[in-house]
Amino acid sequence: MNFNIAVIPGDGIGPEIIREARKVLDAIGVQYSHSFSYTEVLMGGVSIDATGVPLTEEALLTAKNSDSVLLGAVGGDVGKSSWYDVAPNLRPEAGLLAIRKGLNLFANIRPAILFSELKSACPLREDIIGDGFDFVVMRELTGGLYFGDRWTKEVDGLRTATDTLVYNEQEIARIARQAFEIARKRRKKVCSVDKANVLDSSRLWRQVTKEVSMEYPDVELTDMLVDNCAMQLVKDPKQFDVILTENMFGDILSDEASMVTGSIGMLASASLGDTKLGLYEPSHGSAPDIAGQNKANPIATILSAAMMLRYSFDLDAEANKVEAAVKEVLKKGYRTIDIMSPGKTLVGCDKMGDLIAGEIM
Ligand code: IPM
Ligand code: MG
Repeated sequence: MNFNIAVIPGDGIGPEIIREARKVLDAIGVQYSHSFSYTEVLMGGVSIDATGVPLTEEALLTAKNSDSVLLGAVGGDVGKSSWYDVAPNLRPEAGLLAIRKGLNLFANIRPAILFSELKSACPLREDIIGDGFDFVVMRELTGGLYFGDRWTKEVDGLRTATDTLVYNEQEIARIARQAFEIARKRRKKVCSVDKANVLDSSRLWRQVTKEVSMEYPDVELTDMLVDNCAMQLVKDPKQFDVILTENMFGDILSDEASMVTGSIGMLASASLGDTKLGLYEPSHGSAPDIAGQNKANPIATILSAAMMLRYSFDLDAEANKVEAAVKEVLKKGYRTIDIMSPGKTLVGCDKMGDLIAGEIM
């Protein structure tokens, strides 16, 4: 089959890691007789440089008309880059928020898996790790604080800033359904995370999630307060299967989740909506400090491409193949610098891509 992929290399290490993911997709194409055509789309800092805005209408339209979107990373060095000398809605990250909203990608799935080959990179104690953990954070992506009205003005002679956190029951119900659906394919446990002891939006979240859970009697639903969840993630991550939470809590908890695996350079993510069109990107950022040095770990992007094969194209065998290839290369002892340990073979970004593509061919 032929699939049209909108590719957004973006900023920093984005172009390097995307190049390697394309190598791997092309290897899959050859082996399984698919053709992937790529249309490059500008977003983030590179788009600001070329067009003055982080995402043009035309770029968004190209993404909309594709079968799926593969993204590297956007953003620069906040202290140094001139991309940040402008209003917040014109900065690189605004492009990311705009494409999520524009494509109605309300469900963000970030798996946190401890790869057995990389146990030594995990910062948790061995008795906590046990035989590893494997959970996903399902983050609401197009509502809450990130999309609420905000303003800064003088109130009673003081500069005062306001951000609003709004959720309606529909927004909560549709992400909850996604979480229950994913849980059904896993260990059938959803832990909904909120701050219902303080926030109205959280109280509604808890109530609606409970209502939706009635449609899924085979899935166990528990609730947890977000501060407790932050603690439980380092105390006993094995307890989690699917963590369901709102936008900002999910932003924070998914970074924590990736760190407890010890290898943020390994973690993929998928942003999905009501259709097959999804946006796939590594969970890590643009790492401007190592950009262009062939040091980046392309595995998170490669595994994001695998998620694309699975969720957007329904190519399960092909997705499994990519994941198996990654595991095989790790088993053979190849490591990028971020996951390097004594006795292993250090390789650069391009070599890592070659090795994984090589396992597929
Ligand atoms: C992420 C990032 C973004 C977010 C930023 C860059 C706006 O942190 O994808 O987690 O907060 O959603
Ligand atoms: Mg984040």
